[in-house]
Amino acid sequence: MTSLNTTTALDCRYRPQWHYAAERNWLNDPNGLVYANGVYHLFYQHNPHGDVWGNMSWGHATSADLLHWDEQPVAISCDEQEAIFSGSAVLDVHNTSGFGAGGVPPLVAIYTSAYSPASPLAGRQAQSLAYSTDDGATWTKYAGNPVLDRESSDFRDPKVFWYDGAAGRYWVMVAVEALKHEVVLYKSPDLKSWEYLSTFGPANATDGVWECPDLFELPVDGDAGNTRWVLVVNLSPGGIAGGSGGQYFLGTFDGVAFRSETTVTEGRQADDSRMADYGWLDWGRDYYAAVSFSNVPGGRRLMIGWMNNWQYAAATPSDGWRSAMSLVREVRLETRGGRPVLVQEAVDPLAASGTELLARGGQELADGVTWLPAAASGDVLRIDAEFRPGSTGKVGFVLRAGGGAAGGAAEASADGLAGGSERTVLAYDSGSGELSLDRTASGNVGFHEAFPSVERVAVPLVDGRLRLRVFLDRCSVEVFAQDGLATITDQVFPAGSSTAVGLLAEGDGGTLVSLSVTG
Ligand code: FRU
Repeated sequence: MTSLNTTTALDCRYRPQWHYAAERNWLNDPNGLVYANGVYHLFYQHNPHGDVWGNMSWGHATSADLLHWDEQPVAISCDEQEAIFSGSAVLDVHNTSGFGAGGVPPLVAIYTSAYSPASPLAGRQAQSLAYSTDDGATWTKYAGNPVLDRESSDFRDPKVFWYDGAAGRYWVMVAVEALKHEVVLYKSPDLKSWEYLSTFGPANATDGVWECPDLFELPVDGDAGNTRWVLVVNLSPGGIAGGSGGQYFLGTFDGVAFRSETTVTEGRQADDSRMADYGWLDWGRDYYAAVSFSNVPGGRRLMIGWMNNWQYAAATPSDGWRSAMSLVREVRLETRGGRPVLVQEAVDPLAASGTELLARGGQELADGVTWLPAAASGDVLRIDAEFRPGSTGKVGFVLRAGGGAAGGAAEASADGLAGGSERTVLAYDSGSGELSLDRTASGNVGFHEAFPSVERVAVPLVDGRLRLRVFLDRCSVEVFAQDGLATITDQVFPAGSSTAVGLLAEGDGGTLVSLSVTG
């Protein structure tokens, strides 16, 4: 097993090996994702003093490869006047801010000051700056904070990028008026003075507050002459799977306003019957506050989400640390089904170092569960499979199966491997055309009533086939279906001994075209 998360002092059964979690204490949104001088910086919402939300400050981790993360000292700390809420960071290459010294461009963080009762601005949320001239090691809050104040109590989560287009060259900020379900856009020559540009929303999913927006341009099918702008809007609750989730819109941005081409419903929604028609970053319960890195070489667009959900985040099992980030995902626009959609590919923790534990070619699937040999079981695995589902019935996997902490009725397989009562089931149903991830019997599900759940997404077959890439990592399952067309991300908390993997077939079984298990 490869251990990529280098902060393993509190190694324990749920601690992820491939995902970043703080060594100790609470973590939520990824913040300030930026690449500079060969280093990827991951800042994050962090409570340095406890494993529940509070004392919000920016934690910090760095990586050269997006896989091995080294935890750094807390970057920007709360004080008696303000909590440091979510935001972004840029490398100010032209030193427009004047924070640079000696020709070295500064890193500038743009964050939300959530003012405490001790502040003259008590109750407000406004945007502030901090800067670093030593590659992110130390940070200084700007004396002129806040730099953008709308006298609002719910104006937050600024994402800033450098716009260079027909309308000119300047910084653009997208932030939210969370309760109004609005993304508000501003521009600035120097990150310090901001001018209002436009407002987008409400549109599509509006059941919860809008948080953590992002806006970036991507080519469609790699064609630089045919681009769309992607507006990411996280919302909580009101996500597609319940609770926190992330939606996206595709459209144009002329330097002033974003115009959506994928709006299904305008304004606030009284009913949610069109939910499945909106663009979703993920169809699971645990992919929230996802935003992208700035300044990544080669135009790659890389995103990270917080692998949790506000419904139950405070109640998930904790061993002194609580919550992890998703794997880093490269996002692209591809034409699928005749229209551009966002597809996602995880930065693969096993790309350089994986050992193939099992490889199988074409076989008819036997009805029921066929357990894989023990050598291909585990709680930290990548599974790649291609199925040709039958005309009826189900195909898929039983994951993290075992007797469970309290034992249970174990099923012995032909391999002698116990299945048991604990299991997470990933299944494609030919009747409904849906892929589902069922974690209702995944292990410890009793810590919150909203946790046991079944996630579903309609997935069109391609040439009659279903392709799945699944990452298991101790307390999570991330599913990438049809080469990243749809993803499902869920936390699970099984017993450490629940490691069995089974092939699942029901009804008119179907065929396993190929299977590879790598660890
Ligand atoms: C999203 C969020 C942000 C806010 C931060 C506070 O999860 O609610 O809107 O800035 O978390 O920790």
